[in-house]
Amino acid sequence: MRFNFDEPVDRRGSGSVKWDTIGERVLPMFVADMDFRSSPQIIEVLEAKIHHGIFGYGQDLEFPGIIKQWFQDAYQVPIKEEWIVLLPAIVPVLAAVSRLREGRVMIPSPNYHILLAAPGKAGKETIRSPLKNTNEYYEMDFDDMRRRIEPDVRLFYLCNPHNPVGRVYTYEELKELSCFAEEQNLIIVSDEAHCGLVFDGRRHIPFFSIDEYAAEHSITIMGPGKTYNLAGLPFGFAIIPNGTLRQEFNKTCYSLPNPGILNVAAAKAAYGSSEPWRLQLVDYLQGNRDYFEKALREQFPAIKMTHVEGTYLQWVDFRPLGIEDPYQWLLDKVKILPNKGEPFGLEGYVRFNLGTTRARLEEAIGRITSVIA
Ligand SMILES: Cc1ncc(COP(=O)(O)O)c(C=O)c1O
Repeated sequence: MRFNFDEPVDRRGSGSVKWDTIGERVLPMFVADMDFRSSPQIIEVLEAKIHHGIFGYGQDLEFPGIIKQWFQDAYQVPIKEEWIVLLPAIVPVLAAVSRLREGRVMIPSPNYHILLAAPGKAGKETIRSPLKNTNEYYEMDFDDMRRRIEPDVRLFYLCNPHNPVGRVYTYEELKELSCFAEEQNLIIVSDEAHCGLVFDGRRHIPFFSIDEYAAEHSITIMGPGKTYNLAGLPFGFAIIPNGTLRQEFNKTCYSLPNPGILNVAAAKAAYGSSEPWRLQLVDYLQGNRDYFEKALREQFPAIKMTHVEGTYLQWVDFRPLGIEDPYQWLLDKVKILPNKGEPFGLEGYVRFNLGTTRARLEEAIGRITSVIA
């Protein structure tokens, strides 16, 4: 079956952050959800649940088995069902989990703005380590991390695939991180929300599967929100192979609610029966990345931008074109709303959301070109 990602769906008036909080003439390319309908399998399951009409406390006994199978199929990584902890969303967990240990949290920057801010919301300080930037190819800087780390740091936040710089970390990079964590006695909290969206045949590697240390000292967090476009039905899960750490995690996150039954049903249809949809989505998003990157680079060679390896997020610096404040310029003159770089830890940059139809990306490129020309 072919899925039509070119179909324009009008989201205005649907109660959408992206489309209902901005002016009529502005093209929204900010908050990270996509302008695509979810897979027919997800929609069908939700329709059945709605029709049933009872929305009591949920407990889907099949769900852990589906995740276990999905890990086997997607990553050839065997897991045990007991390692899985269901979460009501990812964001509140990123704040709560920073209380797992005393002391500060180390986190590379730029990074997903909520990941950067989450420990602060829970009253914890962070130590940021700038990613090494070689012509917009970003890497963790282990020398810098060693220079900056302090004895009180026990937690490290990783984002992979990386929002906003679009890196999909390699085995070698993750292995080096695991060695660093072992040397510094750290627990890694690995936010892998974008793990289903990696391009050019790359493989996402779940952090806990890197080696023995990673398995025993990490909390890997995933969810269907990004890949299956279910941000409005928040849900996630953590994989925590170490039983003691899992208990501590459950205690730390106790105040969080249970996931809703519609949300779990949608997630079950996502991981259990939406693989053909996901594969076609990845192809489409890779085409979007190619189109957007080529159009900007060809017309404005001075522009600085990442080559996105995964996620539908494009990180761009327009300042080499002489544009002082690219965010304001895009909003006021071009009528495009991207995300501002500053909350992600790098002022001056902007982040575009490419999770939309090709026609809308063409519209965006047309708007940028007509203002710069
Ligand atoms: C890396 C990352 N983690 C988590 C989230 C949000 O997760 P949720 O909406 O499930 O809380 C996002 C959303 O953009 C993200 O980019």
